[in-house]
Amino acid sequence: MIAQKQIYKCNVCGNMVEVLYVGGGELTCCNQAMELLAEKNDDTGMEKHVPVIEETTDGVIVKVGSVAHPMEESHYIAVIEISDGDTEQKAFLQPGDAPEARFVTIANLSSISAREYCTVHGLWKS
Ligand SMILES: [Fe+2]
Repeated sequence: MIAQKQIYKCNVCGNMVEVLYVGGGELTCCNQAMELLAEKNDDTGMEKHVPVIEETTDGVIVKVGSVAHPMEESHYIAVIEISDGDTEQKAFLQPGDAPEARFVTIANLSSISAREYCTVHGLWKS
């Protein structure tokens, strides 16, 4: 069942979409159903992906992850997002950037969650 904020990926061309409003249809791309990406939170591999949220003087900084993630052409963090439930902010990253993003927010730190998308290892949430 499609739900708001879910992220879907086309396994043919790589397009990714986020659901802003549920209309009821099926999401398709390249003539096949798009895959719902699971939000992983179990860091067991060598590279760490779960976003780490730290408070700053005017908001938060989100780092990926507990050990800095690679930011190479073939493997990098493409998006970091924070949400307090009602509002979201996204930062789009490029290879060579630091695997982190700063956000100005008035939300309480305890109400903020973060997601990130790794181009090799998928979607992660804290
Ligand atoms: Fe990765």
